[in-house]
Amino acid sequence: MVDLGFGRRELSYMARIDCRIAGVGGYLPERVVTNAELEAKVDTNDAWIRSRTGIAQRHIGADDEATSDIAAAAAKRALAAAGLVAEDIDLIVVATVTPDRTFPSVAVHVQRKIGAPPGMAFDVSAACGGFVYALNIVTAMMTTGQTTRALVIGAEKLSCFLDWTDRGTCVLFGDGGGAIVVEAKHAPDDAPRTGVLGVFSSADGRLTELLYADGGPSTTNTVGLVRMNGREVFRNAVEEISNSVITVARQADIRIEDIDWFVPHQANIRIIESCAKRLNLNMDRVIVTIDRHANTSAASIPLALDDAIRAGTIRKGDLVAFAALGGGLAWGSALVRF
Ligand code: UT7
Repeated sequence: MVDLGFGRRELSYMARIDCRIAGVGGYLPERVVTNAELEAKVDTNDAWIRSRTGIAQRHIGADDEATSDIAAAAAKRALAAAGLVAEDIDLIVVATVTPDRTFPSVAVHVQRKIGAPPGMAFDVSAACGGFVYALNIVTAMMTTGQTTRALVIGAEKLSCFLDWTDRGTCVLFGDGGGAIVVEAKHAPDDAPRTGVLGVFSSADGRLTELLYADGGPSTTNTVGLVRMNGREVFRNAVEEISNSVITVARQADIRIEDIDWFVPHQANIRIIESCAKRLNLNMDRVIVTIDRHANTSAASIPLALDDAIRAGTIRKGDLVAFAALGGGLAWGSALVRF
């Protein structure tokens, strides 16, 4: 590694660069809202929500808690888990659809809040697919020497973005944030590859009307609220999430049966079970947090990952697949050797 001064480092192109996950952190706002509490707001009930989605509760951010606060809290925990400090980071990418402000990015707020030095910082807008999109971008930047240590964050305050009169959407989502530190490591070409083994992202703009917010600065000059055709999104989610895992496994020359853990986007337990079935993965190899976290969009995968690592379920050496789909429709996957 060559030190360029001003905290910037340049990786030599002579050796292979592995993009390793050095640390993972998660943050959930303190307030827990149960299904029973929602019964007072809309015409719903605990039995319907549990049986149709698998959700029992969700966390909701405080009024003065912005997405960047949630993201910064998760980022600090990921840095601590990696044994690093904010000064070690030269790139921050936040996947979110609920920014503090229309601009600048949540990433620059995080940069300030965690005390990171000047460096690249930007947001990725790919809704629930945002975390895997961000990981794809960071991996590409790292293997071309543009970053040596990056924070990849998924963070959302979706509770501000929901139509609390629409029972078809408001019961499904929650707030939270998850972060990972990705670190470039030189490795000899013949050493077993670790870290990110494969990444895949795709979108189909013909399907925008299936899941969107009905507002925006250049159309209504409002933020808008979440609108969803649940059945159609469900059908596409099962197909594209499972296909994404197959695609990334082929890319990395890995057999699906060799995957130790599947960490899917947490939108609906029935989607997760259908994907596992299509992939022929037993549910005891699938990480499920939807019961406690609900759907936290871009935060759901890193939050579930953090949960599984802290529980001692996912360990060093494990082969882990991530996959998600959301508004866009946009979807993607990643395969990581921890
Ligand atoms: O993260 C982005 C990706 N998002 C997703 O992947 C979500 C995908 N979609 C889904 O998870 C499911 O489609 C939902 C959970 C949104 C809905 O489940 P569903 O089994 O597809 O229900 P449905 O929309 O077909 O509705 C069935 C019934 C309807 O009543 P009728 O018309 O049969 O009388 C709905 O009005 O359930 C009713 N319903 C509810 N009942 C009680 C819908 N929402 C609720 C509710 N409580 N909250």
